[in-house]
Amino acid sequence: MKKLSPALSMVSGLPRREFLRTGARLLGAAWASRALLPAAAALAGAPQQDFIVPGKEKMIVHSLRYLDLEMPVHLLDSWITPVELFYVRNHLPLPRVNVAEWSIAVTGEVEHPVELKLADLEKLEQGKVVNTMECAGNGRSFYRPRVPGIPWGRGSVGNAEFSGPRLADVLRRAGLKATAKHVAFNGIDEPPGKVPDFIRSLPIEKALNPDTLVALRMNGAPLRIEHGSPARALAPGWLGAASVKWLIEIRVMDREFEGNFMKPGYRFPTRPVPPGGEIGPEETAVIKGLPVKSVIARPGDGSHWKLGPVRLSGAAWAGENEVTRVDISTDQGKTWQPATFGPEKAKYAWRLWEYAWKPAKAGSYVVMSRATDSAGRTQPAEPAWNPSGYLWNVIDRVRIHVEA
Ligand code: MTE
Repeated sequence: MKKLSPALSMVSGLPRREFLRTGARLLGAAWASRALLPAAAALAGAPQQDFIVPGKEKMIVHSLRYLDLEMPVHLLDSWITPVELFYVRNHLPLPRVNVAEWSIAVTGEVEHPVELKLADLEKLEQGKVVNTMECAGNGRSFYRPRVPGIPWGRGSVGNAEFSGPRLADVLRRAGLKATAKHVAFNGIDEPPGKVPDFIRSLPIEKALNPDTLVALRMNGAPLRIEHGSPARALAPGWLGAASVKWLIEIRVMDREFEGNFMKPGYRFPTRPVPPGGEIGPEETAVIKGLPVKSVIARPGDGSHWKLGPVRLSGAAWAGENEVTRVDISTDQGKTWQPATFGPEKAKYAWRLWEYAWKPAKAGSYVVMSRATDSAGRTQPAEPAWNPSGYLWNVIDRVRIHVEA
């Protein structure tokens, strides 16, 4: 298997011409000229927020070492999230990929393993899915007691149109054996030192679902490098971790893959855990579909308004289920009023919502949003604390100051 990916941080060690040849086309001219500046400065210990990631200038930087970027939630104002605002979550250094040499191997429990190049994937019928992708750790920073891991706020979520061949068609090229029960994905990103590789599997039913893609494009353009160029898995409605980026191998297996990012990573307790408590791996299950959730995007938390009408807006999503209502409270949850949905709708996509609020008097208000879905799930008032800080979906709230 070809491994073509010195980490981005290694770029400085390459002759400049070599970097431009292999890197600039894929990373974009801005990356080629500026990508090293933030990393070098990071070593000097400057605060990370001072750095600008080209093409992602407005994002909150959680890590430049691996590139972990969050969308400031007050910028959420369109159904489709522009790529510039789409969060980035990497566990390993950002790789470089030479598309001319790149291919995906389909191996394991198949009749005849195949190796597919980008042109082969482009020749297959292309599916299209608008999907709200959310990192399982979104909201981790709100858990108390605090838990280790990237302290995501509310913005490691985005809604994009992904397109590419159906995974089922790719698997059909290799022919599934009767023993095919799970499908594991490996990306070209390489773990430094003893860090485990990022490999995850999907059950065969999800893999064969016609909405599950080998995505080549995002919002109509080829995937950008940070989102998995040239090809990533897309498991709509599931946690973002299921959508493995920079695919180089699709391995069909007779059992679930059991590496670090399936076990103990990305699992949720199957029983309630008291805050700060412990839980054994046998009492956890692999996270699959996303829970029901809403966010208030605008006005921003802590903002000040003159007494008068205030337009509240945000988004709500529910993984593989449909959001059926969003309710708003401006009196600490005593009473709730329905929000109005925006016109755009798709199976795995968030709904935008809005609510015309007319505060009767000046004061400091806590405004809350609560979504309900087609499976009858409603956002809870209390968090389900868990040691990894996954799946935060408590009723959202922002403080708004209304001044006379
Ligand atoms: N794929 C690889 N190869 N390596 C990774 O670190 N991170 C996963 C997933 N796919 C990851 C990966 C996680 S945890 C998430 S939430 C999504 O990618 C984020 O996708 P994005 O960066 O395009 O938003």
